[in-house]
Amino acid sequence: MPFEIDRRAFIASLGGAAVVSRMNDEARADALEDYSIRKLDDAVAAAQRGQIAGPPERFPTAAELEARIDGSSNRRGVGNLFLGSGGRGVTRLEPMPKRPTLLDYFNLRFKTAGAYNHVLQSATHAMKTGMTEEVVFACLLHDVVQSLIKVDHGWWGAQMFEPYLPEKSTFAIRYHQALRFYADEANGYEYPDLYRRTFGVDYKPEPYIEETYQIVRKHKWYIEPRMVTVHDLYAFDPNAVVSMDPFVDIIGRHFKQPKEGLGFDNSPVAHMWRSIAFPDHPL
Ligand SMILES: [Fe+2]
Ligand SMILES: [Fe+2]
Repeated sequence: MPFEIDRRAFIASLGGAAVVSRMNDEARADALEDYSIRKLDDAVAAAQRGQIAGPPERFPTAAELEARIDGSSNRRGVGNLFLGSGGRGVTRLEPMPKRPTLLDYFNLRFKTAGAYNHVLQSATHAMKTGMTEEVVFACLLHDVVQSLIKVDHGWWGAQMFEPYLPEKSTFAIRYHQALRFYADEANGYEYPDLYRRTFGVDYKPEPYIEETYQIVRKHKWYIEPRMVTVHDLYAFDPNAVVSMDPFVDIIGRHFKQPKEGLGFDNSPVAHMWRSIAFPDHPL
C-alpha cells in the first residue's frame, strides 16, 4: 500500500500556509521531498515492526510534464516575481529606495520571489565548509535571478551580476545550471531527485547544455560552479534559520555597488535590475 501525503500535516510541518506561500516552487518541491523522506522513514520503521511500506516515489516522464503545458496559466520558465503565490494572485510590492543596493534587492524583492532562504542556506553551508569567498558569494547569488526569469537562469543570473562581481563568481553562477545535470561523485555531487521530478525521469539535457558541460569540465575554474551545485543540495531545509549577517562583509569586499543604485547606473544590465524593481510597469 503506497503511503499518502497528508496535505494539512505537510503544510503544518513547514510552519503554516503563510510560510509555504512565501516559498518558491523549487523550495516547495524540495520541502515536499524532505517531508516525503521522513514519511518514508516512518513507513520503513513501520515495515520493520511488521507492517508493509509503500513503494518509492514515481517520477513523471518528460512527455508527461510536457503534456501539462497545455492549458497552464503560465510558462514554466516565468520569473517568480511575476507569478501569484499559493493560488492567491500577486500583491503590491514595497517601493525600492532611490539608489537601491544589493541588500535592498534581497530584502524587498528576493525575499519573496528570489529563492531567498535557499540561497542563504547554500551560502551558509559553503562558508561553514571553508569555500573561497568567490564560491560563497556565488552560492549566495546563484538563484536570485529566478525572481525575474527561471529558464536558463544560470546564464541570466551571471549576466545580471557581471559588471559587479569577481569573474570567478559569475563563472560559477553561469555554469552551475548546466553542471547540475551531471553527477560528479568524486566532488560530492550526485544527480538530484528534484531534477527527476522537475524535468522528467528520462530527461536528456539539450545539446547546448551537454556542450557547455564538456567545455566547463575541462576548464581551470571547473570546481567553482561544481561547488555551487554541491552546496545547492544542502539548501532546501524548511526549518533552517538563515541570516544575511555573515555575508555583509563579503558583499562589501567583492560587490561593486554602483553609486547611482542598481538599475540606474546605465550599465548594459541596468534594465534587468529595473525589471525586478518595477515588475508592475506594463511596458
Ligand atoms: Fe540554480
Ligand atoms: Fe539552487
